[in-house]
Amino acid sequence: MLEGTSPEGAHYYPAFPWTTYARMRDADVADLWTFMATLPPQDRADVPHEVGFPFNIRASLGGWKLLFADDDWVMPADTPELERGRYLVEALGHCAECHTPRNALGGPDKTLWMAGAPNPAGEGKIPGLRQGQLDWSAEDIAYYLESGFTPDFDSAGGQMAEVVENMSKLAPEDRAAIAAYVKALPPVQ
Ligand code: HEC
Repeated sequence: MLEGTSPEGAHYYPAFPWTTYARMRDADVADLWTFMATLPPQDRADVPHEVGFPFNIRASLGGWKLLFADDDWVMPADTPELERGRYLVEALGHCAECHTPRNALGGPDKTLWMAGAPNPAGEGKIPGLRQGQLDWSAEDIAYYLESGFTPDFDSAGGQMAEVVENMSKLAPEDRAAIAAYVKALPPVQ
């Protein structure tokens, strides 16, 4: 989870977003495993990966890791609420996996962190959330994450619908912390 490496030492593809989970606290990784161990067994056979060239060459992932894998925080956080929001967004929520564009080698472009990206599923664009891109209040953002409703009573669509389903289960303080983090994102230069 933290290093993107299997027990045998093979590199995992970053489609499993260990690049984000690298920032997780050990105790939270342990809790996740405790939860997963309670899930019932599954008979369905595991399916092979479908990853395009050059990412299908697992050994090349070692070089990719040197280029892009780190567990540094991307945004500053100078209050406990912003720190909590940053942990939820940059680590557990892996929001940037969708909301940040990638460079030619598939690494996140940190200069455009959360500034919107092409939709990996093909259609349309994933919206940018930086100042000047999203003009919602912190309350609007927290309410969207809870209910899926935008301030003009549209509803979250695409993959964001699933994200909202999960975010709706968080404590209200956690949704407020995520909203505070989003509001603190600087404008795109
Ligand atoms: C799996 C991809 C994915 C992930 C992960 C994801 N989002 Fe989104 N997000 C989207 C898409 C797609 C939309 C556009 C939804 C729509 O058009 O209805 C969106 C829309 C939004 C919006 C509304 C912006 C607007 O202008 O309408 C906010 C706010 C938002 N996301 C915040 C977050 C936060 C915070 C996280 C992490 C907790 C997150 N997203 C994680 C894909 C994602």
